[in-house]
Amino acid sequence: MRVGADAAADLGGLAARKDAAGGAGALGRIAAAGESGGAAGPDHRVAQAAGGGGEAVSATDAAARREELVGLYKEVSKCTKCPLHETRTKAVFGAGNADADLMFVGEAPGAEEDLQGLPFVGRAGQLLNELLVEIGLSREAVFICNVLKSRPPNNRDPQPTEIAACEPYLFEQVRLIQPRVVCTLGNFATKLLTGNPTGITRVRGTPQTHELGGRTVFLLPLFHPAAALRTPAVKEQLRADFATIPALIEQALPAPLPSAAEIAAETAPDQDDPPPPADQLGFFGGADTA
Ligand code: URA
Repeated sequence: MRVGADAAADLGGLAARKDAAGGAGALGRIAAAGESGGAAGPDHRVAQAAGGGGEAVSATDAAARREELVGLYKEVSKCTKCPLHETRTKAVFGAGNADADLMFVGEAPGAEEDLQGLPFVGRAGQLLNELLVEIGLSREAVFICNVLKSRPPNNRDPQPTEIAACEPYLFEQVRLIQPRVVCTLGNFATKLLTGNPTGITRVRGTPQTHELGGRTVFLLPLFHPAAALRTPAVKEQLRADFATIPALIEQALPAPLPSAAEIAAETAPDQDDPPPPADQLGFFGGADTA
Protein backbone atom coordinates (compact mmCIF):
# COMPACT_ATOMS: atom_id res chain seq x y z
CA MET A 1 0.00 0.00 0.00
CA ARG A 2 2.24 2.75 -1.12
CA VAL A 3 1.33 6.29 -1.69
CA GLY A 4 2.66 7.34 -5.04
CA ALA A 5 4.68 10.45 -5.65
CA ASP A 6 1.72 12.06 -7.37
CA ALA A 7 -0.59 10.95 -4.60
CA ALA A 8 1.79 12.06 -1.87
CA ALA A 9 -0.58 14.81 -0.88
CA ASP A 10 -2.59 12.04 0.71
CA LEU A 11 -0.55 9.89 3.01
CA GLY A 12 -3.81 8.30 3.88
CA GLY A 13 -5.28 7.21 7.16
CA LEU A 14 -2.78 7.39 9.91
CA ALA A 15 -3.77 5.29 12.82
CA ALA A 16 -6.32 7.35 14.64
CA ARG A 17 -5.20 6.23 18.04
CA LYS A 18 -2.07 4.96 19.65
CA ASP A 19 -1.76 3.07 22.87
CA ALA A 20 0.46 4.64 25.46
CA ALA A 21 1.21 1.31 27.08
CA GLY A 22 0.48 -1.32 24.50
CA GLY A 23 2.87 -0.79 21.65
CA ALA A 24 2.70 -4.12 19.89
CA GLY A 25 -0.99 -4.24 20.63
CA ALA A 26 -1.38 -0.86 19.06
CA LEU A 27 0.55 -1.98 16.02
CA GLY A 28 -1.62 -5.03 15.82
CA ARG A 29 -4.70 -2.85 15.80
CA ILE A 30 -3.54 -0.79 12.87
CA ALA A 31 -5.39 -2.21 9.94
CA ALA A 32 -4.49 -1.91 6.32
CA ALA A 33 -6.52 0.51 4.29
CA GLY A 34 -6.88 0.81 0.55
CA GLU A 35 -4.04 0.96 -1.89
CA SER A 36 -3.06 3.93 -3.97
CA GLY A 37 -0.46 2.93 -6.45
CA GLY A 38 2.78 4.72 -7.05
CA ALA A 39 6.40 4.74 -6.21
CA ALA A 40 7.25 6.28 -2.93
CA GLY A 41 6.16 7.60 0.38
CA PRO A 42 4.66 6.31 3.60
CA ASP A 43 1.85 3.85 3.40
CA HIS A 44 -1.81 4.23 4.05
CA ARG A 45 -2.83 2.89 7.43
CA VAL A 46 -6.08 3.14 9.25
CA ALA A 47 -6.72 2.30 12.85
CA GLN A 48 -9.50 -0.05 13.65
CA ALA A 49 -11.65 1.05 16.49
CA ALA A 50 -10.53 -1.30 19.21
CA GLY A 51 -10.94 -1.68 22.90
CA GLY A 52 -8.21 -1.58 25.44
CA GLY A 53 -6.69 1.10 27.55
CA GLY A 54 -4.18 3.65 26.57
CA GLU A 55 -3.76 7.14 25.43
CA ALA A 56 -6.15 8.14 22.69
CA VAL A 57 -4.59 10.13 19.92
CA SER A 58 -7.22 12.26 18.30
CA ALA A 59 -7.91 11.77 14.64
CA THR A 60 -7.28 15.47 14.09
CA ASP A 61 -3.85 15.22 15.69
CA ALA A 62 -3.01 12.20 13.54
CA ALA A 63 -4.33 13.89 10.41
CA ALA A 64 -2.34 17.04 11.10
CA ARG A 65 0.86 15.02 11.60
CA ARG A 66 0.17 13.08 8.42
CA GLU A 67 -0.29 16.29 6.48
CA GLU A 68 3.00 17.65 7.78
CA LEU A 69 4.69 14.39 6.85
CA VAL A 70 3.36 14.75 3.30
CA GLY A 71 4.84 18.24 3.20
CA LEU A 72 8.17 16.90 4.42
CA TYR A 73 8.05 14.12 1.82
CA LYS A 74 7.61 16.70 -0.94
CA GLU A 75 10.44 18.80 0.44
CA VAL A 76 12.80 15.83 0.58
CA SER A 77 11.87 14.79 -2.97
CA LYS A 78 13.17 18.12 -4.25
CA CYS A 79 15.99 18.61 -1.76
CA THR A 80 19.22 20.15 -3.08
CA LYS A 81 20.90 20.81 0.26
CA CYS A 82 23.92 18.65 -0.55
CA PRO A 83 25.63 17.60 -3.79
CA LEU A 84 24.12 14.10 -3.63
CA HIS A 85 21.03 15.45 -5.36
CA GLU A 86 23.08 15.76 -8.53
CA THR A 87 23.81 12.04 -8.74
CA ARG A 88 20.68 10.46 -7.24
CA THR A 89 17.87 9.02 -9.33
CA LYS A 90 15.19 9.40 -6.64
CA ALA A 91 15.29 10.70 -3.12
CA VAL A 92 14.32 8.00 -0.62
CA PHE A 93 12.12 9.55 2.03
CA GLY A 94 11.18 6.35 3.85
CA ALA A 95 8.11 4.17 3.78
CA GLY A 96 5.69 2.39 6.03
CA ASN A 97 3.13 3.27 8.63
CA ALA A 98 3.11 7.01 9.19
CA ASP A 99 1.92 6.44 12.77
CA ALA A 100 4.18 3.52 13.59
CA ASP A 101 5.30 2.61 17.09
CA LEU A 102 8.46 1.10 15.64
CA MET A 103 10.85 2.88 13.34
CA PHE A 104 14.05 1.64 11.67
CA VAL A 105 16.82 3.98 10.59
CA GLY A 106 19.45 2.70 8.16
CA GLU A 107 22.42 4.43 6.61
CA ALA A 108 21.66 5.56 3.06
CA PRO A 109 19.90 4.30 -0.06
CA GLY A 110 21.78 1.81 -2.21
CA ALA A 111 21.48 1.26 -5.95
CA GLU A 112 18.08 -0.44 -5.92
CA GLU A 113 16.63 1.99 -3.38
CA ASP A 114 17.83 4.91 -5.52
CA LEU A 115 16.03 3.50 -8.56
CA GLN A 116 12.77 2.71 -6.77
CA GLY A 117 12.70 5.64 -4.33
CA LEU A 118 12.02 3.20 -1.49
CA PRO A 119 14.19 2.14 1.46
CA PHE A 120 15.58 -1.35 1.98
CA VAL A 121 14.29 -3.01 -1.18
CA GLY A 122 17.47 -4.93 -1.97
CA ARG A 123 18.88 -8.05 -0.26
CA ALA A 124 19.34 -6.28 3.07
CA GLY A 125 15.70 -5.23 2.85
CA GLN A 126 14.61 -8.82 2.23
CA LEU A 127 16.38 -9.88 5.41
CA LEU A 128 14.76 -7.01 7.30
CA ASN A 129 11.36 -8.19 6.05
CA GLU A 130 12.08 -11.76 7.16
CA LEU A 131 13.19 -10.68 10.63
CA LEU A 132 10.06 -8.56 11.00
CA VAL A 133 7.84 -11.48 10.08
CA GLU A 134 9.65 -13.65 12.65
CA ILE A 135 8.55 -11.25 15.40
CA GLY A 136 4.99 -11.04 14.11
CA LEU A 137 5.29 -7.71 12.33
CA SER A 138 5.33 -6.64 8.72
CA ARG A 139 7.06 -3.92 6.83
CA GLU A 140 3.71 -2.14 6.50
CA ALA A 141 3.31 -1.91 10.28
CA VAL A 142 6.60 -0.08 10.87
CA PHE A 143 8.32 2.94 9.35
CA ILE A 144 11.67 2.44 7.61
CA CYS A 145 14.02 5.23 6.58
CA ASN A 146 17.68 6.20 6.44
CA VAL A 147 20.02 8.86 7.79
CA LEU A 148 20.68 10.05 4.22
CA LYS A 149 17.80 10.43 1.81
CA SER A 150 20.00 10.37 -1.32
CA ARG A 151 22.38 7.64 -2.48
CA PRO A 152 26.11 8.34 -2.08
CA PRO A 153 27.88 7.43 -5.36
CA ASN A 154 29.21 3.86 -5.38
CA ASN A 155 27.70 3.34 -1.92
CA ARG A 156 30.55 5.21 -0.27
CA ASP A 157 30.24 6.22 3.38
CA PRO A 158 28.07 9.25 4.15
CA GLN A 159 30.15 12.40 4.63
CA PRO A 160 29.74 14.61 7.72
CA THR A 161 28.42 17.51 5.61
CA GLU A 162 25.83 15.24 4.00
CA ILE A 163 24.71 13.94 7.38
CA ALA A 164 24.48 17.49 8.73
CA ALA A 165 22.35 18.55 5.75
CA CYS A 166 20.02 15.56 6.01
CA GLU A 167 19.62 14.96 9.74
CA PRO A 168 16.92 17.61 10.31
CA TYR A 169 14.65 15.53 8.04
CA LEU A 170 15.18 12.47 10.22
CA PHE A 171 14.39 14.34 13.43
CA GLU A 172 11.27 15.76 11.80
CA GLN A 173 10.21 12.24 10.80
CA VAL A 174 10.56 11.10 14.41
CA ARG A 175 8.62 14.14 15.64
CA LEU A 176 5.76 13.52 13.23
CA ILE A 177 5.54 9.71 13.33
CA GLN A 178 5.90 9.56 17.12
CA PRO A 179 7.42 6.08 17.45
CA ARG A 180 7.99 4.43 20.82
CA VAL A 181 11.05 2.46 19.68
CA VAL A 182 13.66 3.57 17.16
CA CYS A 183 16.01 0.82 15.94
CA THR A 184 19.23 2.11 14.44
CA LEU A 185 20.73 -0.19 11.84
CA GLY A 186 24.52 -0.11 11.81
CA ASN A 187 27.17 2.34 12.86
CA PHE A 188 26.13 5.51 11.07
CA ALA A 189 22.57 5.68 12.36
CA THR A 190 23.62 4.49 15.82
CA LYS A 191 26.41 7.02 16.27
CA LEU A 192 24.25 9.85 14.95
CA LEU A 193 21.19 9.14 17.05
CA THR A 194 22.97 8.16 20.26
CA GLY A 195 25.39 11.07 19.94
CA ASN A 196 28.07 8.59 20.98
CA PRO A 197 31.01 7.32 18.90
CA THR A 198 30.98 3.83 20.48
CA GLY A 199 30.80 1.23 17.74
CA ILE A 200 27.77 -0.95 17.04
CA THR A 201 29.48 -4.17 18.18
CA ARG A 202 29.66 -2.85 21.75
CA VAL A 203 26.23 -1.24 21.99
CA ARG A 204 24.00 -3.49 19.91
CA GLY A 205 21.05 -5.16 21.59
CA THR A 206 20.95 -2.94 24.67
CA PRO A 207 18.11 -0.40 24.65
CA GLN A 208 18.90 3.21 25.50
CA THR A 209 16.62 6.11 26.27
CA HIS A 210 16.98 9.22 24.13
CA GLU A 211 15.14 12.34 23.29
CA LEU A 212 14.71 12.47 19.53
CA GLY A 213 12.58 14.95 17.63
CA GLY A 214 11.38 16.38 20.94
CA ARG A 215 10.18 13.02 22.20
CA THR A 216 11.50 10.43 24.61
CA VAL A 217 11.95 7.08 22.90
CA PHE A 218 13.68 3.77 23.38
CA LEU A 219 16.59 3.50 20.98
CA LEU A 220 17.73 -0.02 20.17
CA PRO A 221 21.02 -0.25 18.27
CA LEU A 222 21.13 -3.22 15.87
CA PHE A 223 23.64 -4.59 13.40
CA HIS A 224 22.97 -3.50 9.84
CA PRO A 225 21.24 -6.28 7.84
CA ALA A 226 23.92 -5.96 5.14
CA ALA A 227 26.56 -6.91 7.76
CA ALA A 228 24.34 -9.81 8.78
CA LEU A 229 24.25 -11.04 5.18
CA ARG A 230 28.04 -11.11 5.12
CA THR A 231 28.57 -12.93 8.43
CA PRO A 232 26.31 -15.73 9.70
CA ALA A 233 27.22 -15.08 13.37
CA VAL A 234 26.16 -11.44 12.99
CA LYS A 235 22.89 -12.60 11.47
CA GLU A 236 22.19 -14.74 14.52
CA GLN A 237 22.95 -11.83 16.85
CA LEU A 238 20.68 -9.59 14.81
CA ARG A 239 17.94 -12.22 14.99
CA ALA A 240 18.36 -12.49 18.78
CA ASP A 241 18.21 -8.70 19.15
CA PHE A 242 15.09 -8.56 16.97
CA ALA A 243 13.43 -11.01 19.34
CA THR A 244 13.63 -8.39 22.11
CA ILE A 245 11.70 -5.77 20.13
CA PRO A 246 8.09 -6.80 20.91
CA ALA A 247 8.68 -6.59 24.68
CA LEU A 248 10.40 -3.23 24.27
CA ILE A 249 7.43 -1.82 22.36
CA GLU A 250 5.19 -2.95 25.21
CA GLN A 251 7.34 -1.34 27.87
CA ALA A 252 6.12 1.94 29.34
CA LEU A 253 8.15 4.83 28.04
CA PRO A 254 10.32 6.52 30.63
CA ALA A 255 9.38 10.02 31.75
CA PRO A 256 10.85 12.72 29.52
CA LEU A 257 14.43 13.60 30.39
CA PRO A 258 14.63 16.90 32.31
CA SER A 259 15.68 19.87 30.19
CA ALA A 260 18.78 21.90 31.05
CA ALA A 261 16.48 24.68 32.30
CA GLU A 262 14.64 22.22 34.57
CA ILE A 263 17.92 20.89 36.00
CA ALA A 264 19.12 24.46 36.63
CA ALA A 265 15.84 25.35 38.34
CA GLU A 266 16.05 22.22 40.48
CA THR A 267 19.54 23.00 41.75
CA ALA A 268 19.10 26.78 42.17
CA PRO A 269 18.37 27.98 45.73
CA ASP A 270 14.67 28.43 46.37
CA GLN A 271 13.75 32.10 46.63
CA ASP A 272 11.32 31.26 49.42
CA ASP A 273 13.93 29.46 51.54
CA PRO A 274 14.62 31.32 54.78
CA PRO A 275 18.11 32.87 54.93
CA PRO A 276 20.68 30.73 56.76
CA PRO A 277 21.29 31.59 60.39
CA ALA A 278 23.60 34.52 60.94
CA ASP A 279 26.39 32.36 62.39
CA GLN A 280 26.46 30.31 59.17
CA LEU A 281 26.59 33.47 57.09
CA GLY A 282 29.52 34.54 59.20
CA PHE A 283 31.19 31.20 58.62
CA PHE A 284 31.19 31.95 54.88
CA GLY A 285 32.33 35.51 55.52
CA GLY A 286 28.96 36.84 54.34
CA ALA A 287 27.79 38.61 57.50
CA ASP A 288 29.08 40.44 60.46
CA THR A 289 28.60 38.13 63.43
CA ALA A 290 30.48 40.26 65.93
N1 URA B 1 21.11 0.00 3.28
C1 URA B 1 20.66 1.06 3.95
O1 URA B 1 21.26 1.50 4.94
N2 URA B 1 19.52 1.60 3.57
C2 URA B 1 18.82 1.16 2.56
O2 URA B 1 17.77 1.73 2.30
C3 URA B 1 19.30 0.04 1.88
C4 URA B 1 20.45 -0.52 2.24
